[in-house]
Amino acid sequence: MSEPSVEQRFARARANDDLVVLEGFHALKHALRFEAELELVVTSDGEGLERLARDLAPDLAGRLGTLAQPIAPERLAGLAARAPRTQVLAIAHRRPFDPAALSPRPIVLLEDPRDLGNVGAVVRVAAAADVAAVLTTGTVDPWDAAALRGSAGLHYALPVAPLDGLDLSPRPLLALDPEGEPLRPAELPRDAVLAFGTERHGLSDELLARADRRIRIPMRPGVSSLNLATSVAAVLFAWLLADS
Ligand SMILES: C[S@@+](CC[C@H](N)C(=O)[O-])C[C@H]1O[C@@H](n2cnc3c(N)ncnc32)[C@H](O)[C@@H]1O
Repeated sequence: MSEPSVEQRFARARANDDLVVLEGFHALKHALRFEAELELVVTSDGEGLERLARDLAPDLAGRLGTLAQPIAPERLAGLAARAPRTQVLAIAHRRPFDPAALSPRPIVLLEDPRDLGNVGAVVRVAAAADVAAVLTTGTVDPWDAAALRGSAGLHYALPVAPLDGLDLSPRPLLALDPEGEPLRPAELPRDAVLAFGTERHGLSDELLARADRRIRIPMRPGVSSLNLATSVAAVLFAWLLADS
């Protein structure tokens, strides 16, 4: 039997729950830094890739050029809905989620997020704040290629997974809600589950009823809410700075 083509391998990776597609230099850079298991890397600009590595990720210089398989630009363009400007794509294994390995730091819980760009931005800021995990409910796959693009590959820096009925007790559940009590970052429990609601409707009544507390980020009168990823960033960094 003949070897599958690069096109077949990317099509299969997009349909396979254990594999993900990394689009662009930054996603690949973080995947490598956080030890993702790579299946295939292709580029239509090997020299440009090495230059980027030398300029932006000297720790990976020399490694990317040898890792990436050359491919014609028109073939690379056919492998993604939006070919990355950095002309590099990769297939990697999704990092399995081990609930037993969660650190005692806060968990970000996104209830039914809809915008994959938001999910990616949340993973990115959660990785920077070094929290225990980003977990999601609802139908979107938090490892979708668009979310990985938004996180610049930082899904490999911390556990990211669907909640899937996992019981997070006895961690306190804090609901971030514009109607809550004012945020006091220094008082946030270190192991809290910080729950953020869906973009249009906010948190569900069910989650609000289960929450130990509701907390609001202060806003100027007249502003109804912050963007989902912005609100995660505000809370995590308020907590981090108060804790340092
Ligand atoms: C775009 S907002 C949802 C807006 C929705 N209409 C509402 O009133 O909740 C998405 C999520 O970001 C969080 N959020 C946004 N602004 C917030 C604020 N000022 N205080 C606390 N949470 C906020 C909440 O978790 C909210 O469910």
